[in-house]
Amino acid sequence: MQVLKSRQSSRDFSTDSIPLPVLSNLLWAACGVNRTESGKRTSPSAMNWQEIDLYIVTASGVFRYDAKTHALEQILTGDIRERTGSQPFVKEVPVNLVYVADYARMSRGSDEDKMLYSAADAGFISENVYLFCASEGLATVVRGSVDRSELAKVMKLRPDQKIILAQSIGYPKKSE
Ligand SMILES: Cc1cc2nc3c(=O)[nH]c(=O)nc-3n(C[C@H](O)[C@H](O)[C@H](O)COP(=O)(O)O)c2cc1C
Repeated sequence: MQVLKSRQSSRDFSTDSIPLPVLSNLLWAACGVNRTESGKRTSPSAMNWQEIDLYIVTASGVFRYDAKTHALEQILTGDIRERTGSQPFVKEVPVNLVYVADYARMSRGSDEDKMLYSAADAGFISENVYLFCASEGLATVVRGSVDRSELAKVMKLRPDQKIILAQSIGYPKKSE
């Protein structure tokens, strides 16, 4: 009840970095493995496809969250935060998540089905992130305003990897 009460979108971020243990918990809450015997996750996915990959875009580069090993794999070096959205805070916020659907993991259905299911699946993960942020005093906002084709190019994604949403995360800006 408490985290639901305080869940909200915030766009005023401090530039303070997020300690790695907090980021680690955030990613596990987002879509980590919570049942090792089946490999199922904290968020549901249509047909258990687990097609949404979380890319973590920070000042140090771009990383992909591997839920199976609960580890980050570096994909790119260099700071591309500015390319993850149109709003001014994206270039300074410590973490921008990018939700990418891998259509190669969705074995059946039309492209329309894939779009619908992957958007729903990304939404569940995003809400987990919102609730984790509420519990940890972090500020966050999910963002649809993303130049997807431009960002896909920068991230060197395959054509069947589709960017669904982005989400910025940081500590709230301290009031003066
Ligand atoms: C699918 C989706 C896309 C959104 N895109 C943006 C966005 O691009 N930029 C932004 O500042 N907020 C975005 N939001 C946040 C909404 O504006 C916000 O959730 C809404 O105003 C309600 O506020 P609340 O989350 O504090 O309840 C988006 C929310 C959703 C669910």
